[in-house]
Amino acid sequence: FKFQDEQEDSEGLWRETFKKFVDIKANGPTSVGLDFGLHGFSHVYGLPEHADTLRLKDTSDGEPYRLYNLDVFGYSIHSPLGLYGSVPFLLAHSPDRTVGAFWLNASETLLDVQYDCKKVKTKREVLPHTNLRWMSESGVIDSFILLGPSPSHTFLQYAELTGYQALPPLFSLGYHQCRWSYDDEADVKAVDAGFDRHAIPYDVIWLDIEHTRQNRYFTWDSQLFPDPVGLQRHLQERERKLVVISDPHIKVDPSWELYSEAQDRGYFVRDREGKLYNGRCWPGESCYLDFTSPEVRAWYSSLFALDKYKGSTDSLHVWNDMNEPSVFGGPEQTMPKDAVHHGGVEHRELHNLYGFYQHLATVEGLISRSGGLERPFVLSRSFFAGSQRLGAVWTGDNLATWEYLKISIPMLLSLSIVGVAFCGADVGGFFQDPKPELLIRWYQAGSLQPFFRGHSAKMMKRREPWLFGDTVTAAIRNAVQQRYCLLPYWYTLFHQAHTSAKPPIRPLWVEFSKEQDTFTVEHEYMIGSALLACPVTDPGATKVKVLLPGSGEVKLIFKHAFSKVPLFQRGGTVIPRRTKPGSCSADLQKMPFSLTVALDSNGCAEGYLYLDDGHSFNYRDKKHFALRRFSFCLFCPPSCTDNTGQFDSGCLVQSVTFLGVKKKPSAFLNT
Ligand code: GLC
Repeated sequence: FKFQDEQEDSEGLWRETFKKFVDIKANGPTSVGLDFGLHGFSHVYGLPEHADTLRLKDTSDGEPYRLYNLDVFGYSIHSPLGLYGSVPFLLAHSPDRTVGAFWLNASETLLDVQYDCKKVKTKREVLPHTNLRWMSESGVIDSFILLGPSPSHTFLQYAELTGYQALPPLFSLGYHQCRWSYDDEADVKAVDAGFDRHAIPYDVIWLDIEHTRQNRYFTWDSQLFPDPVGLQRHLQERERKLVVISDPHIKVDPSWELYSEAQDRGYFVRDREGKLYNGRCWPGESCYLDFTSPEVRAWYSSLFALDKYKGSTDSLHVWNDMNEPSVFGGPEQTMPKDAVHHGGVEHRELHNLYGFYQHLATVEGLISRSGGLERPFVLSRSFFAGSQRLGAVWTGDNLATWEYLKISIPMLLSLSIVGVAFCGADVGGFFQDPKPELLIRWYQAGSLQPFFRGHSAKMMKRREPWLFGDTVTAAIRNAVQQRYCLLPYWYTLFHQAHTSAKPPIRPLWVEFSKEQDTFTVEHEYMIGSALLACPVTDPGATKVKVLLPGSGEVKLIFKHAFSKVPLFQRGGTVIPRRTKPGSCSADLQKMPFSLTVALDSNGCAEGYLYLDDGHSFNYRDKKHFALRRFSFCLFCPPSCTDNTGQFDSGCLVQSVTFLGVKKKPSAFLNT
C-alpha cells in the first residue's frame, strides 16, 4: 500500500500530525495486539510507571493504561498516562494462585483492564474474570504467561526472563543528599560537614547539571569546581562518595571534542531525512547519542575511564537523567517517532528502551573503569523491563505535597513487584517547599524505602535536614539513624532479590497471599518477610490504623507529633541490626550487631544475615560472602548456620533481644 491522499487517511494510519509535528510513518501503519482472559482473577498489579493505585483500575470507562516513556514534570496523580519508564509486565493474584503476563514490546503500548466483565459459572460458584488487552504501535507479538503458582514463583520466572536485581554496593543503600544544584566545592564541603555536626549519617552527595561547563557532561565548571579530584578525596577521607549527572543529550558545539568525535563517528540519532536529529534540552541545541548501537555504547562506556574522564576518581558514581529521552518542545516533550537509529530502525520501535540503553552503557563504563572488580552505582530516570540488572531508578519530578508522598508507596510497590526493586522517590518532594511536618514524614517514609535520596529543584529553598530547628533535625536524624542501623537487613534483602528475585519491599498480599483483606492495601507493606511498615502520609496525624494480617486492625496513638512511624516485626522472624548508625555505611561496619528475635506462637523464629565486602564482585567471583541463618525455637537449642561462601566480617553480635517470650526463659536461654 502507499499513502495516496490525506482525505482517505482520516485515522492517521499513513501520516499523523500532532501539533506542528508530522510523523511520516515511513513503513506504513503497524500495530499488534492480543487479548487475554484471566479466569478466577479480580486483582491485577504492576505495569509501572503510573502515579496510580497498586491494584490496576478497570479502564472500561476511561483511557487505557499507557506505556510511553515521557518527561512529565509534576505529573498528575491517579492518571493512566505513562511516566518516565515502562515495564510491560503485570501480575494477577487470587487466594489460590498468582500468574504473570509479560508483553515484550518497547514501542508505545496500551493496556485495557476489565474486571468481572464475564462471570464464568462453574457448578457451584461464580468465578471472577479479568480481561486484558495489550496493544502496541509496532513490533511483533512476543508474550509470556508465567504460571506461578505463588508470588515468589512468579518473581523467579520473570527474573529468569529479564534478569535479577543487581546487588547494589552497600553505600548506595544509605542516605543520599542531592539538590539541583549545590553551588560549588565550598558548598559541598559545608553540607558534608553539616551532616557530621548534626550526627546525621549519610553516604553520598550529588551534583546536578550546573557542576559542568554549561551542561557539557564529563566536564567541570572550572570556577565552581576547580579541584574535583580534591573534592572527591575530601569526601573519601570520610568514606563518602560523589554522584554526578550525565544526560544523553550532547551540546551542539563543534569545538568540543566529545561532540565532534561523536559526530565524526556517526554516533547521533538521525532525523527521517538522514540529517543529525537536533533537539533542545538543558544545553540548548543538542544531539542525542544513539545508545541502541553497541558501538556507541562501548564508546560512551569508555568515556568513564579514569584517564579519560578528567576530574573523576573511583569514588564518583553516576546519575542518568532526561533519558526518556526528554526533548524540550519535541512531540510530547520527547523524540519524534520517525527519528532513525542504528540499523535504520525508527525510534517508534524502541522508544521505551532508549533510557535502558544509556543506563546499560553507563553501568558498563563504571565496571570497566574498575577493571571489572567493583560494583557500580547508577541511577536512571527512564527504565524498561530488565533495568533491575543495572541499578536504581526513581519516580522523577514529584511535588512537595502529601498526595505525592502517599502515592510514592504504591508507585514503589508496583516497581518492586515487576523486578525493579531498587527504587525511590525524591524525599521532601522535588518541586515546591515542604512544610516541616511533611519533610519529617517524608524522611520517615523514605528511610523505609529502597532508594533513599533527598532532592529538590533549583528554585526551591534549601532544605538540608538541620535548617528547620532542633525538633525537625532530631526527627530526621532519628529516621536516618534507624535506616542505618537496619542496613544489614536491607542488604540481606537485596542479596535475596539478587539471588531469588524477591523484592525487598512487597505488597501485603505477597506475604499473606490467601488473606483477601490485604489485596487492596497500598499504604502499608512488608520490608522483606519480617517487617510491616505503615508510613504516616497524612498531615496532623495523631493516630493511624494498621491492618496486621491475621490479627485484624490496630489503632496506634502518637503521644508526640511526628515521633513515631508504625513498623512491626512479624512473629517468627529474626532481624539483624547494627547497634549504632555510624557516620556512613563504611563507618557502620565497625559497629557490632544486635539481633531481634520475635517468636511466633510456637516459640520459634528464623532469619538471615548476608555479609560481604560491600563493594566488589568478590562475593560472586571468589565466593567471599557469608550468609548466616539464625534459628531459634523454645523447644530446641538455638542455631546459627553458614550456608555457603567464606567471609569474615570480624564483627560481633553484641546483643540478642527476644520479643514474645510468654514464660520465664528456660535454662539454655540463660546460657
Ligand atoms: C530533571 C530531573 C531532576 C533534576 C533536573 C535538573 O527535572 O528529574 O531530578 O534535578 O532535571 O537536572
